[in-house]
Amino acid sequence: MLIKSIESLDKGLNVLWSNNSLSSYPWFWLRDHSESQEDLHPDTKQRQIDSFSVSLNNSVNKVWLDESSESIFIKWEDQSESTLSFELLKTMSVPSLPQSYTLNSTNTWNSSNEIKDFPEITYQELMSDGGIKTWLKHIQRVGFALVIKTPETPEATKDLMEKMAYIRNSIFGGFSVWDNKLENPDDTAFTSLAIEPHTDGTYVHDAPGLQTLHCIKRDSIGGENQLIDGLAIAEKMRHEHPDSFEILCNINIPGRYIKPDTYLEAHRPLFRVNDNDDIIQVSFNNHDRAPFRLENNLMDKFYDAYKIFHNLANDTSRQFEFMLDPGKVLTFDNWRLLHARSSLTGYRQLCGGYHNREDFESKLRSI
Ligand SMILES: [Fe+2]
Repeated sequence: MLIKSIESLDKGLNVLWSNNSLSSYPWFWLRDHSESQEDLHPDTKQRQIDSFSVSLNNSVNKVWLDESSESIFIKWEDQSESTLSFELLKTMSVPSLPQSYTLNSTNTWNSSNEIKDFPEITYQELMSDGGIKTWLKHIQRVGFALVIKTPETPEATKDLMEKMAYIRNSIFGGFSVWDNKLENPDDTAFTSLAIEPHTDGTYVHDAPGLQTLHCIKRDSIGGENQLIDGLAIAEKMRHEHPDSFEILCNINIPGRYIKPDTYLEAHRPLFRVNDNDDIIQVSFNNHDRAPFRLENNLMDKFYDAYKIFHNLANDTSRQFEFMLDPGKVLTFDNWRLLHARSSLTGYRQLCGGYHNREDFESKLRSI
């Protein structure tokens, strides 16, 4: 979209675009969003202009458009100058409320058969130039990726994770190595017990964005992993059970984690949506759900809605089941997919950790 013409008015600047749409930008907004070297630091991209502490004289002396630098220049009565790129004006051409990053719904899946272009790459491919893009795009599209032929060591797994970003610290530490023979496990994850579908961190305000798991030693029977697309369940419930969907968008469910000297608790609806009703996060952990009580009528409705979600998540036909074998590293979107594990006998040693959501989004923006 190119600029056809501009027109200065008392209240602001009108821009007529090549598709004949018109955008009206107020003078104050234009000055506040100036990208000149004085107003926006050229390296840090942080705003330098202070639009609020001094009352700026926003009377306009002259406005002109420069095709070569693809910018609009504004000279104010006080002789200062603002610059705004066509790109910024184009991005801001239609007013809208800022929205959180929505989950990508190009390949939601209700069964493993619906996973298109199976998200698997080799360790060598990931660690080579451009490999990270394939890896991240898989995670963004279907919610997970498997990296195969990975050296069966904690070091290689950590290197892989650090291709994305620094590893997040949590109550369980940062990058960790553990097995199922801990004397005093502080979470079911560190035992041999089955774990039903859940997302991690319902008891923290900012749940981990991604989780990576690598089973580096395995001498066991059972312990298969299951992944379930929470976004697909959300969309199914939105269409087939709209009242229940609404309840799960609106009622904050408390999650908790308790051990000696620690009591974490956070509250979030099962489906977090933005102002456009797009899903931005799915949070579900029945094991970690803390006590809460609503008015009886609403509590009944909540239980009905929660049961629908629970049963869909536990429906094995919706689950992608696989074995975490040494060499195969799983990374999944903990804001979208639920994960589960069958019980096992024998020994296994795992390693892995978490990434923050914003670091995943940051990498997606910059690759
Ligand atoms: Fe988990």
